Amino acid sequence: MTIKITRLCTLLMFVLFYSACKRTPENINRTGIIPQPVSMEFGEGAFVIDEDTKILYPDAFAPVAGFLSEYIGSRVNAEMERIDEEDSDAIIFRQDQSLEKEEAYTLKVTPKNIEISASSPKGAFYAVQSLRQLMPVLSNNAISEEGEMGIPAVDIQDEPRFGYRGQMLDVVRHFFPVEFVKQYIDLMAMLKINTFHWHLTDDQGWRIEIKKYPELTRVGAYRDSTLIGLYGEEPQQWDKKRYGGFYTQEEVKEIVKYAQDRYITVIPEIEMPGHAEAALASYPELGCTGGPYQVQGTWGIHKNIFCTKEETFSFLEGVLDEVAELFPGTYIHIGGDEAPKDHWEQCEVCQALIRSKGLVDESELQSYFVQRIEKYLNGKGKQIIGWDEILEGGLAPNATVMSWRGTKGAVEAAKQHHNVIMTPTSYCYLDYYQYQSDQDDRNVLAIGGYVPLSKVYSFDPIPEELTAEQKKYVLGPQANVWTEYMETTDKVEYMVYPRAIAMAEVGWTAKENKDYESFLYRLQPLIEHLEAMGVNHGYKPEEVEKEKQTVAAIGE
Ligand code: ACM
Ligand code: ZN
Repeated sequence: MTIKITRLCTLLMFVLFYSACKRTPENINRTGIIPQPVSMEFGEGAFVIDEDTKILYPDAFAPVAGFLSEYIGSRVNAEMERIDEEDSDAIIFRQDQSLEKEEAYTLKVTPKNIEISASSPKGAFYAVQSLRQLMPVLSNNAISEEGEMGIPAVDIQDEPRFGYRGQMLDVVRHFFPVEFVKQYIDLMAMLKINTFHWHLTDDQGWRIEIKKYPELTRVGAYRDSTLIGLYGEEPQQWDKKRYGGFYTQEEVKEIVKYAQDRYITVIPEIEMPGHAEAALASYPELGCTGGPYQVQGTWGIHKNIFCTKEETFSFLEGVLDEVAELFPGTYIHIGGDEAPKDHWEQCEVCQALIRSKGLVDESELQSYFVQRIEKYLNGKGKQIIGWDEILEGGLAPNATVMSWRGTKGAVEAAKQHHNVIMTPTSYCYLDYYQYQSDQDDRNVLAIGGYVPLSKVYSFDPIPEELTAEQKKYVLGPQANVWTEYMETTDKVEYMVYPRAIAMAEVGWTAKENKDYESFLYRLQPLIEHLEAMGVNHGYKPEEVEKEKQTVAAIGE
Protein backbone atom coordinates (compact mmCIF):
# COMPACT_ATOMS: atom_id res chain seq x y z
CA MET A 1 0.00 0.00 0.00
CA THR A 2 2.73 2.49 1.05
CA ILE A 3 4.77 1.52 -1.96
CA LYS A 4 1.77 2.04 -4.21
CA ILE A 5 1.12 5.55 -2.81
CA THR A 6 4.78 6.47 -3.14
CA ARG A 7 4.79 5.28 -6.73
CA LEU A 8 1.63 7.19 -7.42
CA CYS A 9 3.11 10.33 -5.89
CA THR A 10 6.25 9.96 -7.95
CA LEU A 11 4.21 9.55 -11.08
CA LEU A 12 2.09 12.57 -10.21
CA MET A 13 5.13 14.71 -9.54
CA PHE A 14 6.65 13.53 -12.79
CA VAL A 15 3.53 14.51 -14.72
CA LEU A 16 3.25 17.86 -12.93
CA PHE A 17 6.91 18.60 -13.50
CA TYR A 18 6.78 17.90 -17.19
CA SER A 19 3.55 19.73 -17.78
CA ALA A 20 5.08 22.79 -16.07
CA CYS A 21 8.24 22.62 -18.19
CA LYS A 22 7.72 23.45 -21.80
CA ARG A 23 9.57 21.87 -24.59
CA THR A 24 12.44 24.15 -25.51
CA PRO A 25 12.42 25.24 -29.13
CA GLU A 26 15.59 24.49 -31.03
CA ASN A 27 16.14 27.90 -32.56
CA ILE A 28 17.85 29.69 -29.66
CA ASN A 29 20.22 32.63 -30.12
CA ARG A 30 23.17 32.16 -27.80
CA THR A 31 25.56 34.26 -29.80
CA GLY A 32 25.16 37.52 -27.96
CA ILE A 33 23.94 41.02 -28.67
CA ILE A 34 25.16 44.39 -29.93
CA PRO A 35 26.13 46.64 -28.25
CA GLN A 36 28.02 44.40 -25.84
CA PRO A 37 26.60 44.89 -22.32
CA VAL A 38 28.62 45.66 -19.20
CA SER A 39 28.20 42.01 -18.22
CA MET A 40 26.33 39.14 -19.80
CA GLU A 41 26.32 35.48 -18.84
CA PHE A 42 24.33 32.74 -20.49
CA GLY A 43 22.72 30.17 -18.19
CA GLU A 44 21.10 26.76 -18.59
CA GLY A 45 17.95 26.30 -20.61
CA ALA A 46 15.57 28.86 -22.06
CA PHE A 47 12.35 30.72 -21.42
CA VAL A 48 9.60 29.96 -23.89
CA ILE A 49 7.29 32.77 -24.94
CA ASP A 50 3.96 31.48 -26.17
CA GLU A 51 0.23 32.15 -25.88
CA ASP A 52 0.30 31.44 -22.13
CA THR A 53 3.02 33.98 -21.31
CA LYS A 54 1.80 36.73 -18.99
CA ILE A 55 3.17 40.18 -18.27
CA LEU A 56 3.54 42.20 -15.06
CA TYR A 57 4.60 45.84 -14.96
CA PRO A 58 4.27 49.02 -12.92
CA ASP A 59 2.14 51.69 -14.57
CA ALA A 60 5.24 53.83 -15.15
CA PHE A 61 6.50 51.19 -17.57
CA ALA A 62 3.22 50.77 -19.45
CA PRO A 63 4.51 52.22 -22.74
CA VAL A 64 7.52 49.89 -22.71
CA ALA A 65 5.43 46.87 -21.79
CA GLY A 66 3.06 47.89 -24.57
CA PHE A 67 5.94 48.03 -27.07
CA LEU A 68 7.07 44.56 -26.02
CA SER A 69 3.56 43.08 -26.02
CA GLU A 70 2.93 44.38 -29.48
CA TYR A 71 6.25 43.07 -30.72
CA ILE A 72 5.70 39.65 -29.20
CA GLY A 73 2.10 39.62 -30.37
CA SER A 74 3.22 40.11 -33.92
CA ARG A 75 5.53 37.10 -33.61
CA VAL A 76 3.60 34.50 -31.63
CA ASN A 77 0.15 35.78 -32.51
CA ALA A 78 -1.01 36.03 -28.94
CA GLU A 79 -1.90 38.83 -26.59
CA MET A 80 -0.12 38.69 -23.24
CA GLU A 81 -2.40 38.90 -20.23
CA ARG A 82 -1.42 41.59 -17.70
CA ILE A 83 -1.21 40.16 -14.19
CA ASP A 84 -0.80 42.07 -10.96
CA GLU A 85 1.19 39.58 -8.91
CA GLU A 86 4.40 37.75 -9.63
CA ASP A 87 3.90 34.33 -11.15
CA SER A 88 5.88 31.85 -13.21
CA ASP A 89 5.72 31.94 -17.00
CA ALA A 90 5.66 35.72 -16.92
CA ILE A 91 7.68 38.67 -18.13
CA ILE A 92 8.15 40.79 -15.02
CA PHE A 93 9.12 44.47 -15.09
CA ARG A 94 10.31 46.07 -11.85
CA GLN A 95 11.07 49.70 -11.18
CA ASP A 96 14.29 49.71 -9.20
CA GLN A 97 15.68 53.07 -8.10
CA SER A 98 18.96 51.50 -7.05
CA LEU A 99 19.87 51.48 -10.75
CA GLU A 100 20.99 55.06 -10.75
CA LYS A 101 21.45 55.84 -14.42
CA GLU A 102 18.19 56.26 -16.26
CA GLU A 103 19.45 54.19 -19.20
CA ALA A 104 20.73 51.31 -17.03
CA TYR A 105 18.88 48.01 -16.78
CA THR A 106 19.17 44.39 -15.77
CA LEU A 107 17.67 41.53 -17.73
CA LYS A 108 17.47 38.06 -16.25
CA VAL A 109 16.03 35.20 -18.26
CA THR A 110 15.47 31.80 -16.65
CA PRO A 111 13.29 28.90 -17.82
CA LYS A 112 10.73 30.23 -15.32
CA ASN A 113 10.60 33.98 -15.96
CA ILE A 114 11.98 37.01 -17.71
CA GLU A 115 12.81 39.73 -15.19
CA ILE A 116 13.59 43.30 -16.22
CA SER A 117 14.67 45.98 -13.76
CA ALA A 118 15.34 49.66 -14.40
CA SER A 119 14.81 52.94 -12.62
CA SER A 120 13.18 54.57 -15.64
CA PRO A 121 11.12 53.46 -18.64
CA LYS A 122 14.13 54.28 -20.82
CA GLY A 123 16.27 51.65 -19.09
CA ALA A 124 13.41 49.16 -19.33
CA PHE A 125 13.14 49.97 -23.03
CA TYR A 126 16.80 49.07 -23.54
CA ALA A 127 16.25 45.76 -21.74
CA VAL A 128 13.48 45.11 -24.26
CA GLN A 129 15.85 45.91 -27.12
CA SER A 130 18.33 43.37 -25.77
CA LEU A 131 15.48 40.89 -25.55
CA ARG A 132 14.55 41.61 -29.17
CA GLN A 133 18.04 40.64 -30.27
CA LEU A 134 17.86 37.43 -28.24
CA MET A 135 14.70 36.34 -30.00
CA PRO A 136 14.96 33.93 -32.88
CA VAL A 137 15.15 35.51 -36.31
CA LEU A 138 11.71 35.71 -37.89
CA SER A 139 10.82 37.73 -40.91
CA ASN A 140 9.08 40.97 -40.11
CA ASN A 141 5.52 39.86 -40.63
CA ALA A 142 5.99 36.18 -39.91
CA ILE A 143 4.40 34.48 -36.97
CA SER A 144 6.50 31.73 -35.42
CA GLU A 145 5.10 28.50 -36.87
CA GLU A 146 4.85 26.85 -33.48
CA GLY A 147 3.41 30.00 -31.93
CA GLU A 148 6.35 30.18 -29.55
CA MET A 149 9.83 31.63 -29.22
CA GLY A 150 12.71 30.49 -27.06
CA ILE A 151 14.89 33.06 -25.26
CA PRO A 152 18.16 31.74 -23.86
CA ALA A 153 18.66 31.90 -20.11
CA VAL A 154 20.90 34.88 -19.53
CA ASP A 155 21.88 37.41 -16.89
CA ILE A 156 22.65 40.92 -18.14
CA GLN A 157 23.71 44.05 -16.23
CA ASP A 158 24.03 47.02 -18.47
CA GLU A 159 24.46 50.76 -18.85
CA PRO A 160 25.96 52.98 -21.56
CA ARG A 161 29.41 54.53 -21.71
CA PHE A 162 28.09 57.78 -23.26
CA GLY A 163 24.83 59.63 -22.65
CA TYR A 164 24.71 60.86 -26.27
CA ARG A 165 24.63 58.26 -29.02
CA GLY A 166 23.69 59.81 -32.31
CA GLN A 167 22.96 58.97 -35.90
CA MET A 168 22.36 61.52 -38.60
CA LEU A 169 20.43 61.32 -41.86
CA ASP A 170 20.68 63.85 -44.69
CA VAL A 171 17.27 63.97 -46.38
CA VAL A 172 18.25 66.93 -48.58
CA ARG A 173 20.71 65.57 -51.11
CA HIS A 174 18.21 62.76 -51.48
CA PHE A 175 14.75 62.65 -49.99
CA PHE A 176 13.33 59.60 -48.24
CA PRO A 177 9.75 58.66 -47.39
CA VAL A 178 8.31 58.81 -43.86
CA GLU A 179 8.11 55.01 -43.66
CA PHE A 180 11.83 54.73 -44.36
CA VAL A 181 12.72 57.34 -41.75
CA LYS A 182 10.66 55.35 -39.25
CA GLN A 183 12.48 52.13 -40.05
CA TYR A 184 15.80 53.98 -39.74
CA ILE A 185 14.70 55.14 -36.28
CA ASP A 186 13.49 51.68 -35.31
CA LEU A 187 16.88 50.17 -36.13
CA MET A 188 18.56 52.94 -34.14
CA ALA A 189 16.36 51.99 -31.18
CA MET A 190 17.30 48.34 -31.53
CA LEU A 191 20.95 49.43 -31.26
CA LYS A 192 20.26 51.70 -28.24
CA ILE A 193 21.10 54.87 -30.16
CA ASN A 194 19.22 57.71 -28.49
CA THR A 195 19.52 60.71 -30.81
CA PHE A 196 18.40 61.18 -34.40
CA HIS A 197 20.06 64.17 -36.06
CA TRP A 198 17.84 65.10 -38.99
CA HIS A 199 19.57 67.22 -41.65
CA LEU A 200 16.57 69.04 -43.11
CA THR A 201 17.84 72.04 -45.07
CA ASP A 202 20.72 72.67 -47.45
CA ASP A 203 21.64 74.06 -50.86
CA GLN A 204 19.91 71.19 -52.64
CA GLY A 205 16.54 71.45 -50.93
CA TRP A 206 14.39 72.65 -48.04
CA ARG A 207 12.58 69.65 -46.60
CA ILE A 208 10.40 70.87 -43.73
CA GLU A 209 7.11 72.71 -44.08
CA ILE A 210 7.20 76.16 -42.46
CA LYS A 211 3.71 77.67 -42.45
CA LYS A 212 4.91 81.27 -42.23
CA TYR A 213 7.15 80.86 -45.29
CA PRO A 214 5.37 78.67 -47.86
CA GLU A 215 7.85 79.44 -50.64
CA LEU A 216 10.44 77.35 -48.79
CA THR A 217 8.66 74.20 -49.81
CA ARG A 218 6.83 75.46 -52.93
CA VAL A 219 10.12 76.55 -54.49
CA GLY A 220 12.90 75.40 -52.17
CA ALA A 221 11.94 71.74 -51.96
CA TYR A 222 12.56 71.06 -55.66
CA ARG A 223 15.56 71.19 -57.96
CA ASP A 224 15.49 71.01 -61.74
CA SER A 225 18.33 68.63 -62.33
CA THR A 226 20.78 66.53 -60.33
CA LEU A 227 24.40 65.71 -60.94
CA ILE A 228 24.96 62.08 -61.73
CA GLY A 229 28.32 60.43 -61.60
CA LEU A 230 31.28 61.67 -59.65
CA TYR A 231 31.43 65.28 -58.52
CA GLY A 232 34.93 65.90 -59.85
CA GLU A 233 34.38 64.20 -63.19
CA GLU A 234 34.61 66.17 -66.46
CA PRO A 235 32.34 66.61 -68.26
CA GLN A 236 29.77 66.49 -65.48
CA GLN A 237 26.58 64.59 -66.22
CA TRP A 238 23.12 65.80 -65.19
CA ASP A 239 19.86 63.88 -65.12
CA LYS A 240 17.71 66.91 -66.10
CA LYS A 241 14.85 65.66 -63.91
CA ARG A 242 12.87 67.68 -61.39
CA TYR A 243 13.53 66.16 -57.97
CA GLY A 244 12.41 66.91 -54.45
CA GLY A 245 9.89 66.62 -51.67
CA PHE A 246 9.36 67.73 -48.12
CA TYR A 247 7.83 66.64 -44.83
CA THR A 248 4.60 68.33 -43.82
CA GLN A 249 4.35 69.44 -40.20
CA GLU A 250 1.94 66.57 -39.61
CA GLU A 251 4.56 64.12 -40.92
CA VAL A 252 7.25 65.75 -38.80
CA LYS A 253 5.06 65.32 -35.72
CA GLU A 254 4.45 61.69 -36.66
CA ILE A 255 8.18 61.02 -36.92
CA VAL A 256 9.00 62.87 -33.70
CA LYS A 257 6.32 60.83 -31.90
CA TYR A 258 7.59 57.59 -33.43
CA ALA A 259 11.08 58.44 -32.18
CA GLN A 260 9.80 59.51 -28.77
CA ASP A 261 8.03 56.17 -28.39
CA ARG A 262 11.46 54.62 -28.84
CA TYR A 263 13.20 57.00 -26.40
CA ILE A 264 14.97 58.77 -29.24
CA THR A 265 15.32 62.55 -29.31
CA VAL A 266 15.18 64.19 -32.71
CA ILE A 267 17.55 67.08 -33.35
CA PRO A 268 16.52 69.07 -36.42
CA GLU A 269 19.24 70.82 -38.37
CA ILE A 270 18.44 74.13 -40.01
CA GLU A 271 21.59 75.27 -41.81
CA MET A 272 22.87 78.85 -41.50
CA PRO A 273 24.50 81.04 -42.64
CA GLY A 274 25.85 78.71 -45.37
CA HIS A 275 24.26 75.74 -47.12
CA ALA A 276 21.27 78.01 -47.54
CA GLU A 277 20.73 78.33 -51.27
CA ALA A 278 17.38 76.50 -51.31
CA ALA A 279 16.12 79.10 -48.82
CA LEU A 280 17.57 81.92 -50.95
CA ALA A 281 15.96 80.52 -54.10
CA SER A 282 12.66 80.77 -52.20
CA TYR A 283 13.30 84.24 -50.73
CA PRO A 284 16.05 85.94 -52.80
CA GLU A 285 15.90 89.12 -50.71
CA LEU A 286 17.69 87.21 -47.90
CA GLY A 287 20.96 86.98 -49.86
CA CYS A 288 23.66 89.63 -50.23
CA THR A 289 23.47 89.82 -54.04
CA GLY A 290 19.74 89.53 -54.69
CA GLY A 291 20.29 86.47 -56.85
CA PRO A 292 19.38 84.81 -59.02
CA TYR A 293 19.62 81.76 -56.82
CA GLN A 294 18.70 78.20 -57.57
CA VAL A 295 18.05 75.05 -55.63
CA GLN A 296 21.33 73.34 -56.38
CA GLY A 297 21.62 70.04 -58.20
CA THR A 298 25.29 69.62 -57.48
CA TRP A 299 27.24 68.98 -54.29
CA GLY A 300 30.02 70.71 -52.46
CA ILE A 301 30.19 74.24 -51.10
CA HIS A 302 28.15 77.09 -52.57
CA LYS A 303 28.87 80.78 -52.15
CA ASN A 304 25.29 81.96 -51.86
CA ILE A 305 24.77 82.29 -48.11
CA PHE A 306 22.36 84.29 -45.93
CA CYS A 307 23.09 88.02 -45.72
CA THR A 308 23.39 89.38 -42.16
CA LYS A 309 20.63 91.94 -42.78
CA GLU A 310 17.79 92.31 -40.24
CA GLU A 311 15.33 90.63 -42.59
CA THR A 312 17.36 87.42 -42.42
CA PHE A 313 17.19 87.37 -38.63
CA SER A 314 13.46 87.94 -38.54
CA PHE A 315 13.02 85.23 -41.20
CA LEU A 316 15.17 82.74 -39.26
CA GLU A 317 13.38 83.57 -36.02
CA GLY A 318 10.07 82.85 -37.75
CA VAL A 319 11.41 79.54 -39.02
CA LEU A 320 12.88 78.61 -35.64
CA ASP A 321 9.63 79.48 -33.83
CA GLU A 322 7.90 76.72 -35.77
CA VAL A 323 10.84 74.33 -35.56
CA ALA A 324 11.06 74.80 -31.78
CA GLU A 325 7.35 73.97 -31.50
CA LEU A 326 7.65 70.82 -33.59
CA PHE A 327 10.68 69.34 -31.82
CA PRO A 328 10.32 68.94 -28.06
CA GLY A 329 14.02 68.12 -27.50
CA THR A 330 16.46 70.63 -26.05
CA TYR A 331 18.78 70.93 -29.04
CA ILE A 332 18.43 72.61 -32.39
CA HIS A 333 21.37 72.21 -34.78
CA ILE A 334 22.07 75.44 -36.64
CA GLY A 335 24.69 74.08 -39.04
CA GLY A 336 27.42 76.71 -39.31
CA ASP A 337 29.75 74.70 -41.54
CA GLU A 338 31.28 75.60 -44.88
CA ALA A 339 30.08 79.19 -45.25
CA PRO A 340 32.29 81.01 -47.80
CA LYS A 341 32.54 84.70 -46.95
CA ASP A 342 32.96 86.00 -50.52
CA HIS A 343 29.60 87.75 -50.61
CA TRP A 344 29.88 89.16 -47.09
CA GLU A 345 33.19 90.74 -48.11
CA GLN A 346 31.46 92.57 -50.97
CA CYS A 347 28.17 93.40 -49.25
CA GLU A 348 27.47 96.93 -47.96
CA VAL A 349 25.07 95.69 -45.29
CA CYS A 350 27.42 93.00 -43.98
CA GLN A 351 30.40 95.35 -43.96
CA ALA A 352 28.40 98.06 -42.16
CA LEU A 353 27.45 95.52 -39.50
CA ILE A 354 31.11 94.54 -39.02
CA ARG A 355 31.95 98.21 -38.46
CA SER A 356 29.02 99.02 -36.21
CA LYS A 357 29.60 96.00 -33.97
CA GLY A 358 33.37 96.57 -33.87
CA LEU A 359 34.07 93.15 -35.36
CA VAL A 360 37.46 92.28 -36.80
CA ASP A 361 36.46 90.29 -39.85
CA GLU A 362 33.87 88.03 -41.50
CA SER A 363 34.67 85.16 -39.13
CA GLU A 364 33.65 87.36 -36.25
CA LEU A 365 30.57 88.32 -38.23
CA GLN A 366 29.62 84.65 -38.46
CA SER A 367 30.23 84.35 -34.73
CA TYR A 368 27.93 87.37 -34.18
CA PHE A 369 25.30 85.68 -36.40
CA VAL A 370 25.44 82.40 -34.48
CA GLN A 371 25.46 84.13 -31.08
CA ARG A 372 22.39 86.12 -32.00
CA ILE A 373 20.55 82.97 -33.05
CA GLU A 374 21.73 81.20 -29.92
CA LYS A 375 20.38 83.98 -27.74
CA TYR A 376 17.04 83.78 -29.48
CA LEU A 377 16.82 80.02 -29.04
CA ASN A 378 18.07 80.07 -25.45
CA GLY A 379 15.19 82.45 -24.79
CA LYS A 380 12.85 79.69 -25.93
CA GLY A 381 14.53 77.14 -23.64
CA LYS A 382 16.56 75.59 -26.48
CA GLN A 383 20.28 74.99 -26.85
CA ILE A 384 22.23 75.11 -30.08
CA ILE A 385 24.64 72.67 -31.68
CA GLY A 386 26.89 73.74 -34.55
CA TRP A 387 29.55 72.11 -36.72
CA ASP A 388 33.09 72.89 -35.55
CA GLU A 389 33.39 75.99 -37.78
CA ILE A 390 31.37 77.81 -35.10
CA LEU A 391 34.61 77.99 -33.12
CA GLU A 392 36.00 80.44 -35.68
CA GLY A 393 35.55 84.03 -34.61
CA GLY A 394 34.55 82.95 -31.10
CA LEU A 395 32.15 80.36 -29.74
CA ALA A 396 28.60 81.28 -28.74
CA PRO A 397 28.41 81.10 -24.91
CA ASN A 398 26.30 77.93 -24.54
CA ALA A 399 26.90 76.15 -27.84
CA THR A 400 27.69 72.45 -28.24
CA VAL A 401 30.28 71.73 -30.93
CA MET A 402 29.95 68.86 -33.37
CA SER A 403 33.52 68.04 -34.29
CA TRP A 404 33.75 66.70 -37.85
CA ARG A 405 37.08 67.94 -39.26
CA GLY A 406 39.04 65.53 -37.11
CA THR A 407 38.99 66.03 -33.35
CA LYS A 408 40.78 69.38 -33.19
CA GLY A 409 37.52 71.28 -32.80
CA ALA A 410 36.46 68.98 -29.99
CA VAL A 411 39.68 69.51 -28.11
CA GLU A 412 39.47 73.28 -28.50
CA ALA A 413 35.82 73.38 -27.42
CA ALA A 414 36.32 71.07 -24.43
CA LYS A 415 39.22 73.27 -23.32
CA GLN A 416 36.78 76.18 -23.41
CA HIS A 417 34.36 74.10 -21.30
CA HIS A 418 31.87 73.51 -24.07
CA ASN A 419 30.13 70.22 -24.71
CA VAL A 420 31.20 68.33 -27.82
CA ILE A 421 29.82 65.57 -30.01
CA MET A 422 32.33 63.47 -31.87
CA THR A 423 31.83 62.89 -35.59
CA PRO A 424 35.31 63.01 -37.19
CA THR A 425 35.13 62.08 -40.88
CA SER A 426 37.78 59.37 -40.70
CA TYR A 427 35.68 57.22 -38.34
CA CYS A 428 32.12 58.51 -38.46
CA TYR A 429 31.29 59.36 -42.08
CA LEU A 430 29.25 56.50 -43.44
CA ASP A 431 29.08 58.13 -46.87
CA TYR A 432 32.75 57.23 -47.32
CA TYR A 433 33.57 53.91 -49.01
CA GLN A 434 33.32 50.87 -46.75
CA TYR A 435 35.22 48.49 -49.05
CA GLN A 436 38.23 49.00 -51.25
CA SER A 437 36.54 46.89 -53.89
CA ASP A 438 33.63 49.38 -54.03
CA GLN A 439 36.07 52.10 -55.03
CA ASP A 440 36.53 50.35 -58.37
CA ASP A 441 32.84 49.65 -58.86
CA ARG A 442 30.78 52.28 -60.72
CA ASN A 443 27.59 50.74 -59.34
CA VAL A 444 28.41 51.66 -55.77
CA LEU A 445 29.67 55.21 -56.14
CA ALA A 446 30.44 57.05 -52.92
CA ILE A 447 31.71 60.51 -52.18
CA GLY A 448 35.25 59.26 -51.56
CA GLY A 449 37.32 58.35 -48.52
CA TYR A 450 37.64 54.92 -46.95
CA VAL A 451 36.07 54.10 -43.60
CA PRO A 452 35.88 50.33 -43.29
CA LEU A 453 33.95 48.56 -40.53
CA SER A 454 37.02 47.91 -38.41
CA LYS A 455 37.94 51.61 -38.55
CA VAL A 456 34.51 52.65 -37.30
CA TYR A 457 34.75 50.04 -34.58
CA SER A 458 38.17 51.24 -33.47
CA PHE A 459 36.95 54.77 -32.76
CA ASP A 460 37.47 56.09 -29.25
CA PRO A 461 35.34 59.22 -28.87
CA ILE A 462 37.55 60.64 -26.12
CA PRO A 463 40.50 62.52 -27.65
CA GLU A 464 43.74 61.57 -25.90
CA GLU A 465 44.84 65.17 -25.45
CA LEU A 466 42.05 65.93 -22.97
CA THR A 467 42.53 66.02 -19.22
CA ALA A 468 40.17 64.04 -16.99
CA GLU A 469 38.27 67.28 -16.34
CA GLN A 470 37.99 68.15 -20.04
CA LYS A 471 36.85 64.63 -20.98
CA LYS A 472 33.58 65.29 -19.21
CA TYR A 473 32.59 67.62 -22.04
CA VAL A 474 32.54 64.78 -24.57
CA LEU A 475 28.88 63.85 -24.78
CA GLY A 476 29.39 60.95 -27.18
CA PRO A 477 29.82 59.86 -30.80
CA GLN A 478 27.60 60.07 -33.86
CA ALA A 479 27.59 58.44 -37.30
CA ASN A 480 26.85 60.83 -40.16
CA VAL A 481 24.99 59.76 -43.28
CA TRP A 482 25.26 62.33 -46.07
CA THR A 483 23.32 61.17 -49.08
CA GLU A 484 24.82 62.76 -52.21
CA TYR A 485 25.54 59.26 -53.51
CA MET A 486 22.61 57.50 -51.89
CA GLU A 487 19.78 57.94 -54.36
CA THR A 488 17.67 55.11 -52.97
CA THR A 489 16.76 53.70 -49.58
CA ASP A 490 18.53 50.49 -50.63
CA LYS A 491 21.76 52.41 -51.10
CA VAL A 492 21.36 54.13 -47.71
CA GLU A 493 20.95 50.73 -46.07
CA TYR A 494 23.92 49.34 -47.97
CA MET A 495 26.15 52.14 -46.71
CA VAL A 496 24.77 52.37 -43.17
CA TYR A 497 24.70 48.74 -42.04
CA PRO A 498 26.80 47.22 -40.64
CA ARG A 499 28.91 50.32 -39.92
CA ALA A 500 26.21 52.01 -37.81
CA ILE A 501 26.07 48.81 -35.77
CA ALA A 502 29.78 49.20 -35.02
CA MET A 503 29.20 52.85 -34.06
CA ALA A 504 26.41 51.78 -31.71
CA GLU A 505 28.93 49.68 -29.81
CA VAL A 506 31.39 52.61 -29.81
CA GLY A 507 28.79 54.76 -28.09
CA TRP A 508 27.43 52.23 -25.61
CA THR A 509 30.09 49.70 -24.67
CA ALA A 510 32.81 50.36 -22.11
CA LYS A 511 36.22 50.61 -23.76
CA GLU A 512 37.56 47.56 -21.92
CA ASN A 513 34.64 45.43 -23.14
CA LYS A 514 35.17 46.21 -26.81
CA ASP A 515 36.60 43.44 -28.96
CA TYR A 516 36.38 43.44 -32.75
CA GLU A 517 36.47 39.65 -33.17
CA SER A 518 33.68 39.26 -30.65
CA PHE A 519 31.75 42.03 -32.43
CA LEU A 520 32.01 40.21 -35.76
CA TYR A 521 30.80 37.00 -34.11
CA ARG A 522 27.81 38.78 -32.54
CA LEU A 523 27.09 40.59 -35.80
CA GLN A 524 25.91 37.42 -37.52
CA PRO A 525 22.48 37.02 -35.85
CA LEU A 526 21.87 40.75 -36.09
CA ILE A 527 22.54 40.62 -39.83
CA GLU A 528 20.02 37.77 -40.04
CA HIS A 529 17.49 39.97 -38.21
CA LEU A 530 18.14 42.77 -40.72
CA GLU A 531 17.71 40.36 -43.62
CA ALA A 532 14.43 39.12 -42.18
CA MET A 533 13.32 42.75 -41.97
CA GLY A 534 14.21 43.25 -45.63
CA VAL A 535 17.10 45.63 -44.93
CA ASN A 536 19.58 45.84 -47.81
CA HIS A 537 22.67 45.83 -45.57
CA GLY A 538 26.17 45.93 -47.02
CA TYR A 539 27.78 43.25 -44.87
CA LYS A 540 30.23 41.13 -46.89
CA PRO A 541 32.17 38.89 -44.50
CA GLU A 542 34.90 38.08 -47.03
CA GLU A 543 35.53 41.79 -47.73
CA VAL A 544 35.54 42.55 -44.01
CA GLU A 545 38.15 39.82 -43.58
CA LYS A 546 40.27 41.27 -46.40
CA GLU A 547 39.93 44.81 -45.10
CA LYS A 548 41.40 43.84 -41.74
CA GLN A 549 44.72 43.41 -43.52
CA THR A 550 44.51 46.60 -45.54
CA VAL A 551 43.59 48.63 -42.47
CA ALA A 552 46.50 47.12 -40.56
CA ALA A 553 48.76 48.13 -43.45
CA ILE A 554 47.40 51.69 -43.72
CA GLY A 555 47.37 52.33 -39.99
CA GLU A 556 45.66 55.45 -38.72
C1 ACM B 1 30.01 68.57 -42.90
O1 ACM B 1 30.33 67.42 -43.21
N1 ACM B 1 30.02 69.54 -43.80
C2 ACM B 1 29.61 68.91 -41.56
ZN1 ZN C 1 25.17 90.80 -46.89
